[in-house]
Amino acid sequence: MKLIKSISEMQTLSRQYKGTAGFVPTMGYLHDGHLSLVRKACTDCDEVVVSIYVNPSQFGHGEDFQQYPRSLQQDMELLSSLDVKYLFVPQDEEMYRADYKTWVSVEGLTGVLCGKSRPAHFRGVTTIVTKLLHIINPDIIFLGEKDFQQLVVIRQMVRDLNISVEVVGCPLIREKDGLAMSSRNKYLSRLGREKSLCLYRSLLKAQEMY
Ligand code: PAF
Repeated sequence: MKLIKSISEMQTLSRQYKGTAGFVPTMGYLHDGHLSLVRKACTDCDEVVVSIYVNPSQFGHGEDFQQYPRSLQQDMELLSSLDVKYLFVPQDEEMYRADYKTWVSVEGLTGVLCGKSRPAHFRGVTTIVTKLLHIINPDIIFLGEKDFQQLVVIRQMVRDLNISVEVVGCPLIREKDGLAMSSRNKYLSRLGREKSLCLYRSLLKAQEMY
């Protein structure tokens, strides 16, 4: 696995793929959910690119951009056991230059659910995913169904903007006790973690009643 930090180097490499190129975008602090996407990409594609970038524009004021867990060394160790060709880790100064002015936003779908309480979130996600797709130029992008609204929004954006990439959604991965794997689980206290299981239990109950 080669670590790439420069956008222009990644763009050059993206013109030299041999076969189908798969892409897994992440914000790092990788867990088994991310790794399941990378494994799927390795099975389905000839060459796999993973990105790690904690994208500032998808965090609102007062959200957890500063605290968001970062662990590049540990992430690289986890990825090194998989068949990843390039790990792209761009830098803020290059991604969003001082005079940055261009945004991609999907209407309607982003004003409901998560978008109601996080008004600028999806604009940040769709902008960074568009930028990453331009830089990495993959045939297939792999996204988790855990962030289901994000998946639906990105599918819509890819269709609307005629971006030449296939969007593959992959199943959510849970801990043994049912908690959905997420980098942000790190924030949960023992009690909070215990309480959060009510979400999954309620879903199972609803399914059973249905
Ligand atoms: O799902 C995430 O981790 C992020 O929203 C993504 C798609 C990597 C964009 O920053």
